[in-house]
Amino acid sequence: MHVIEWDSSYELGIQTIDNHHRKLIELLNTSYDLLLHSTDKEGMQFVLYELAEYADYHFGAEEYLMNTVSYKGLLPHVNKHNSFKDQLAVLMKDYLSSSPHVNADIILFLSDWLKKHILKDDLKFAVYLSKNKYPSTAAPEIAVSLQTIFI
Ligand SMILES: [Fe+2]
Repeated sequence: MHVIEWDSSYELGIQTIDNHHRKLIELLNTSYDLLLHSTDKEGMQFVLYELAEYADYHFGAEEYLMNTVSYKGLLPHVNKHNSFKDQLAVLMKDYLSSSPHVNADIILFLSDWLKKHILKDDLKFAVYLSKNKYPSTAAPEIAVSLQTIFI
């Protein structure tokens, strides 16, 4: 069962970031599936570590891009990313000692957080890019520099 189904409303038009969001959604769906249907603790730990590492990597990429274009909403956006990372850290810390029910709730929370974050906060940044001389399609140099650093 998927906690998030990708659909076109999540497309921001920034290809690298869109690809990252797809991957994050895939990892959240895999985590949720494993929590509900698997007793493979090592496998679950592996996926949670992958999710945490990928979230760090993705948030770093977004923050780098925001910094590059002097986005004024950078700091509050970073704080929001940190709240996701904090919740994920709680999930990972509790994983071995908590009931699957509690963990599944946190995955649902993280998924809900990500959906709202993409559709509100990240979309706001995409609109900023398109309004302020950095439309993603017309700023290949930014996309290229982003892809060079964050494949
Ligand atoms: Fe973000």
